[in-house]
Amino acid sequence: MPTIIITGGCGYIGSHTAIELLANPAFEVVSIDSCVNSEPQTVQRVEQITGRKFTNHLIDTCDLELVRKVFEETDDVQGIIHFAALKAVGDSVKDPLGYYHNNFESLINLLRCSEEFSVPNFIFSSSCTVYGDLDESHLPVTENTPITRAASPYGNTKLVGEQIIQDFTIATPTVNCISLRYFNPVGAHTSGLNGELPSNRPNNLVPFITQTAAGILPQLTVFGGDYHTRDGSCVRDYIHVTDIATAHVKALEYLLANRNSDQYEVFNLGSGQGVTVLEAIQAFEKVTGEKLNYVVGPRRPGDVEAIYSDSTKAKEVLGWVAVASIEDMMASAWKWQQHLMAKTT
Ligand code: UFG
Repeated sequence: MPTIIITGGCGYIGSHTAIELLANPAFEVVSIDSCVNSEPQTVQRVEQITGRKFTNHLIDTCDLELVRKVFEETDDVQGIIHFAALKAVGDSVKDPLGYYHNNFESLINLLRCSEEFSVPNFIFSSSCTVYGDLDESHLPVTENTPITRAASPYGNTKLVGEQIIQDFTIATPTVNCISLRYFNPVGAHTSGLNGELPSNRPNNLVPFITQTAAGILPQLTVFGGDYHTRDGSCVRDYIHVTDIATAHVKALEYLLANRNSDQYEVFNLGSGQGVTVLEAIQAFEKVTGEKLNYVVGPRRPGDVEAIYSDSTKAKEVLGWVAVASIEDMMASAWKWQQHLMAKTT
């Protein structure tokens, strides 16, 4: 049976994508994940939700020999989806070499394997961070919006990662590649059985909201109330993680059917809706009935004022649209938080 190898299959977006891929009985899905920033038990969660076998090889994607072994042992690999990467913006500023080493080495190893093992299709997790800090005239962002200097070493690994893939496709005409630029993935599987597992204190807004509501964290600080937005807080394009996952399935099907017009293509994945931090908090309070303890504080260095997507290209070319509302995202994130708390009590 055709097999899709995903890296980072125990991680947040990787595991949700595994769930959506396994919904199609025509694919086997095999993961490679060292679980440096995720949990091996995610395999059981994916199996419980899908009722199908899901295998993870607990190895580091930076180790080419071990990665090669997985490809040698796996029959009929038709696609690679490369999620595994370090992703904390602040950590990347403190440890740029660690970030460059990890994110480039693993990408290069997977591209090498796609060539060596004749895997024809490759999908890369990129980010809207490649657009940098834009002024309002550039919003919403399309794939043709000019790319600026990356704001962090993490962002640069996505920007340069895309360029590495583009150069690779020129030299390797047998492999078709897509980069998917995610906006702000949030939420959890609707079952409440799988979601984001921040290993330490969360940096991202939604886990911070749910942990504050759960009483794990005392208070949420809204970073900045003096931006030039409708309520003074930053605007982002939040997108449900399952919508992101289904976009990967669509992109893969598109490549498998040879419908791609170029050997390398890029797509934005956003809902198209700009939502402020305060609106996100209100949506959470509305769907959960929980009152959130928050204050409006100073700006966080490095934050862009506003960014949201024009995802028309993904709609027209891949036939994909984001369906979940901000309320759906918050409700599912809260269900997951409650599931985690029920497990620990
Ligand atoms: N925010 C708060 N309080 C918090 C956490 C976040 O107000 O405790 C705000 C941020 O200031 C921002 C918004 O919530 O306005 C979203 O912040 P996140 O940290 O959740 O997400 P970012 O938009 O900063 O980060 C996302 C991706 C990164 C990517 C970055 C680049 O998560 O992977 O966009 O634009 F690099």
